[in-house]
Amino acid sequence: MKAHIFVDIDSIIAPFDKRIYGQFIEHLGKCVYGGIWVGETSKIPNIKGYRQDVLEAVKAIKPPLIRWPGGNFASGYHWEDGIGPKNQRPKKYDMAWGAEEPNEFGTDEYIEWVRIVGSEPYITVNAGNGTPEEAAHWVEYCNSTRDTRYALLRKQYGHKEPYNVKLWSIGNELYGWWQIGFCKDGEECGRRTLEFANEMKRVDPKIQLVGVGTDLDPEWNVDMIRIAGKYLDYLSVHTYIFTEKEGKTYDELVALPIRIEENLKHIYYTIEQTKSKYNIKKDIKLAFDEWNVWYPEAQPPLLTQITSIKDAIFTGLILNSLQRLVKIVPIACFAQTVNVLPLIITDEENMIVTPQYLVFKLYTEVMEGDVVATSVISPSYVSKELQRPVPYLDASAIYISNEKRIYLYVINRNPDEFGDVEIHIKGADVSTVKHRYISGKTVNDKNTFQNPENVKIEEKQYKLNSSRTVRIPAHSVNLLLLQ
Ligand code: AHR
Repeated sequence: MKAHIFVDIDSIIAPFDKRIYGQFIEHLGKCVYGGIWVGETSKIPNIKGYRQDVLEAVKAIKPPLIRWPGGNFASGYHWEDGIGPKNQRPKKYDMAWGAEEPNEFGTDEYIEWVRIVGSEPYITVNAGNGTPEEAAHWVEYCNSTRDTRYALLRKQYGHKEPYNVKLWSIGNELYGWWQIGFCKDGEECGRRTLEFANEMKRVDPKIQLVGVGTDLDPEWNVDMIRIAGKYLDYLSVHTYIFTEKEGKTYDELVALPIRIEENLKHIYYTIEQTKSKYNIKKDIKLAFDEWNVWYPEAQPPLLTQITSIKDAIFTGLILNSLQRLVKIVPIACFAQTVNVLPLIITDEENMIVTPQYLVFKLYTEVMEGDVVATSVISPSYVSKELQRPVPYLDASAIYISNEKRIYLYVINRNPDEFGDVEIHIKGADVSTVKHRYISGKTVNDKNTFQNPENVKIEEKQYKLNSSRTVRIPAHSVNLLLLQ
């Protein structure tokens, strides 16, 4: 397969925002308990109760923010159950997932773990069966320096300095019947959001707020912006691809990021139109704060699945889309980091990482620079679902001007053929390539506990030849550092 990629370093789309590489963890299955938290008395090696192998693996993908405590769990979670002496914390029934919640991991543990990881917190308050007042108290506990009840509690529990949690979302998927305390329509959710925002902002006016949006119902988004827009900094969107249930073939799975990119743009335009119609001056962008593939094997209570190269390709395509959309979608969180629809999988002794994890490893190497314009000329195939041609190649690029480095992210959807790709760079002269890629032998290759390194990041370095052509393996995610 022959193709061309054009990069124009002078055509800047937007400064890169590392928050598009965010993660999401939930009190669900073995994500928090067993994955992140094992307790100090566990036989599993841990640092202050945080599972060590997972901690190191999460650190290695440098998540800029980590959303918590859910998900559906958030809509029934009462944060005060998770603070104070552990032996006094109540064990509660979690109605969202039908599980027992020991409350050993609460706000203080979350913040401590996030800080050890080197990340930033992003908290979802309970706007399901919780109240605006409870949410405002949580903001006080985390951010206040006053000598009032909740700030004092934090200090009393050993945390003198405020946590300064900047980003908060008001509720989770409140449009869905599966959500505790769901709303009947966007108007109800807008009204509820307004009340939460009002009280939370009174405690700390500097916090940034995310309201519940959806890719299912434009009217919902209009109502949310119309009613609560003046308080919101972001509207959230969640997208899962329910793969085999919908009979998705490989070709269709890897075509879908095109539709997801378009959907995100449409939702943003809806926000812009609504703001203009109702004269709302606020800058409101998107937080794509849950996204992933979801296989039929991932069932409650554990939601486990082991993803493969095809899912790594999907993941790379979404990250390329997010780079291109960074101006309008500056926040995204992969769902989820550990054991639930996971990037990282543990058992009692060992840990493995999926090809999707390796994609994050590749992409998070660069967290600065500008996203610059790329275009591709490539052979294509026809997607039945999208009803149009899909190019085999996808590309996105980041340019770091002071180091004169171009990071070019190239995905080859072609399951059978490698691509000989001519690289055209406008505005810079490059001669060397450090080429890292994830490809495996087939699109179904995965890592397992028996064969944990079946899929790895491969690496080669070379000089660009006179025809400036690089070979991109079949079914692969590539990072080319061009200098
Ligand atoms: O990530 C699993 C679940 O999927 C989350 O709890 C919920 O927000 C979504 O429906």
